[in-house]
Amino acid sequence: MPQVLMVASEAAPFAKSGGLGDVLGSLPPALARAGVDVAVVLPRYGFIPAAGLQRVRENLWIPLGPNTWPVEIYAAVEGGVPFFLIDCPPLYGRPGLYGEDGTDYPDNHIRFGLLCRAALEVVRHLFRPRILHCHDWQAALIPAWLRYPLALDPTFLGIRTALTIHNLGYQGRFARDAIPETGLDESTVPVDVVTHRGDLNFLKAGIELADALTTVSPTYAREIQTPEFGCGLDELLRRRSADLTGILNGVDYSRWSPETDPYIATNYSPEDLSGKRDCKADLLAEFGLPAAAIDTPLIGIVSRFTSQKGFDLVAEAAGELASLDLLLVALGTGEPRYEEMFRKLHETYPGKVAVRIAYDEALAHKIEAGADMFLMPSRYEPCGLNQIYSLRYGTIPIVRLTGGLADTVEDGETGFGFRDYSAAALLEAVRRALEVWRDPRRWRRMMFRAMKKDFSWAASARRYAALYERLLEGSRGAVRELTSPAGLVDNDR
Ligand code: ADP
Ligand code: GLC
Repeated sequence: MPQVLMVASEAAPFAKSGGLGDVLGSLPPALARAGVDVAVVLPRYGFIPAAGLQRVRENLWIPLGPNTWPVEIYAAVEGGVPFFLIDCPPLYGRPGLYGEDGTDYPDNHIRFGLLCRAALEVVRHLFRPRILHCHDWQAALIPAWLRYPLALDPTFLGIRTALTIHNLGYQGRFARDAIPETGLDESTVPVDVVTHRGDLNFLKAGIELADALTTVSPTYAREIQTPEFGCGLDELLRRRSADLTGILNGVDYSRWSPETDPYIATNYSPEDLSGKRDCKADLLAEFGLPAAAIDTPLIGIVSRFTSQKGFDLVAEAAGELASLDLLLVALGTGEPRYEEMFRKLHETYPGKVAVRIAYDEALAHKIEAGADMFLMPSRYEPCGLNQIYSLRYGTIPIVRLTGGLADTVEDGETGFGFRDYSAAALLEAVRRALEVWRDPRRWRRMMFRAMKKDFSWAASARRYAALYERLLEGSRGAVRELTSPAGLVDNDR
C-alpha cells in the first residue's frame, strides 16, 4: 500500500476557490478507498476556524532565506484522510487564498515557498510518504528541495515525486531576485532550474524535476505540448512527454447529485424529473426574474471570472443572445473587468440577464439544478468540473470543445460543443441547443443520457494508484541497477 502525501493550496471543505479545491477534497478519500495510505498538506488560511482542528506540532521555526517563520501544524480527518494544515499567521492569516479585490498578495512566493518547505517538516515529523504528490505551482518547488538542498538528508532518501498540473496558465512567476526568499538559495540550486525566461518560475522547476507529471484530462495533456496551449512551457513539456499523462478528474456525487443535494428546492432523478421545475422556479425567484418565464430556456453560468473562461465571447455575442428566446443567469467573481462586463449585461438586458457577483456555494448548486443549459465557452479548460456536474443535473452543457470539456461532453448526445473560439461559433451552438429544446421529447432523451453518465472518482483514483505503483517500480529498478553486478559492469564500460 503506497504512502502518498499530497501538497496543495486548496482542499474542500477547508479552502476552495475553484476546481482544485474540489479535487483535493474528493480524490484523497477516493484513493483511501482504493487502498492508498494518503494524507494532504495545505495552508491554514485566516478563515479556517480552529474548531475541529487538533494542534499536532508547535514551535517550529522555519528559515527561508533572510526570514524565519513561526509555524504550527494542525490536523483534521475528513473522509478518512488526515489533512495537515500549516499555520503561520503572518503569511496565511488573511481573508484571501491568493489575494484580495482582484490583486495578488505581493509575497505569494514566500507564502507558497513556505508551504513547500513546511510540507517537508510534515514528512520529517508526522507522515512519512514514499511519494510526494504536488499540485500546481504552489507546491512545485518540492522536487527542487529534494533534488538539491536535501539530497543527502536520510529522511527524504528514496521519496519519489509527482506533479499534477491543474492549470498551466498559473505558473507562480516572480522577479528573479525573489529566489532567496523561497529558501532556495542560488548557491544550492542551479538558477536555471528555478527560472524561466529570466523569472523565478515555480511550475517550471516542478515540471523539470518531478519524477512523474500528470494533468487533469487526456486532451489537455496533448494540448499543453503545443505552442498554442503551452504558455511558454510547451518545449519543456514535449521533452518530458514520456513522463506526462492525462488523468480525467472525477466528481464527488455525494455532494453533486440532484437526488440528494440539500441546497436545491426539490430533489429529482432521471426517472422523475418533476422536481427540476421547482428548482427552476426557485432559481428565477432567487435572481428576481419573472415566474412567468418558467417555460423560457434558462442558461446558467458558475465560474471564476478570468480570461481563461471565454466570457469575452459572451460579451461579443450579447446582442444576438439577447434577441433569442432565452434567459441567462451568472454567478461568479474574479477579474474586475469581467465583473463589470456582467453587471453591464444585466443593466442593458434587465429582464433577460441576471447576475450575482459573489462566491456562493448554495447558489452554485441551485444554478446546476434550476437552469436548463450550462454555458462554458472556455478559451482553454484543463478539465472543468461544472460541465460534469451539469450532466448529472440534466442541465445540458454548451461548451467549447477544448481540454476536459472535449473529453466529457459529447456534441449532440449529452450536450452541445463548438470548436472555433468565436462569438459566431458560440451562437451556432446555442441555436442548435434551442432547436432541440423546442422538441421536448428529444430534449428529455438528451437529459436522460447526460444524467446517466458516470464520472465518479473510482476509475480516476485507480489510475493514480497505478501511476504510484509505476513510480515505485521505477525507484526499485533504479536501486537494482545501482547494486546489481550487471549494473556495475555496465557502468565500468
Ligand atoms: P476552475 O477550477 O478553473 O475554476 P472547475 O470547473 O474545475 O473550474 O471548478 C470550478 C469549481 O468552483 C466548481 O465547483 C464551481 O461550482 C466552483 N465555483 C466557481 N465559482 C464559484 C462561485 N462564484 N460560487 C460558488 N462556486 C463557484
Ligand atoms: C483548474 C482548471 C480546471 C480543473 C481544475 C481541477 O482550476 O482550470 O479546468 O477542473 O483545476 O483540476
